[in-house]
Amino acid sequence: MGNVILIGFMGCGKTTVGLKLSYRLWRTVIDTDKEIEKEEQRTISDIFAAEGEAYFRDRETACLRKLIESTNNQIISVGGGLPVREENRRLLRKLGQVFYLCARGETIYGRLKDDTTRPLLQGDDPLTKIETLLKERDPYYREAADVVVSVDDKSFEQILDEIEKNVK
Ligand code: S3P
Repeated sequence: MGNVILIGFMGCGKTTVGLKLSYRLWRTVIDTDKEIEKEEQRTISDIFAAEGEAYFRDRETACLRKLIESTNNQIISVGGGLPVREENRRLLRKLGQVFYLCARGETIYGRLKDDTTRPLLQGDDPLTKIETLLKERDPYYREAADVVVSVDDKSFEQILDEIEKNVK
């Protein structure tokens, strides 16, 4: 409870913002992807390849349940697909105040076009994949969020100021 939670599409800056925010707020940052990789002793790409996406989604929900038991007043950054599941949105609300880092498709494409660590964006035409998934997910992100922070064309300082002034 009382956590600051960062949600948003892959490449919107959750990890970097989480880290920088942790210095400003004097809170530690927990990343659900990293927690899952630690528990599973393998990378997200390996988990997707060996077990499939449904398995990974169940691991995300299990991770949130565990955080509810153990985590107060920290920063939690979650994988881009986590808020899509309704149960996860409910758990996020219980965990704390949710900030949606909202980015345009082109911004995300610019950052992730050469990335090989996101299984959902591999293959031909990542821009179309990004646009399609973003359109599908944006309503879920908005539903889960207490505060929407647009990150396009903003410096990290501006983004952090905006989050900090809204933290309750
Ligand atoms: C995913 C986002 C990734 C990671 C996995 C699936 C998604 O996290 O959880 O590759 O479905 O959007 P980031 O948002 O930290 O890249």
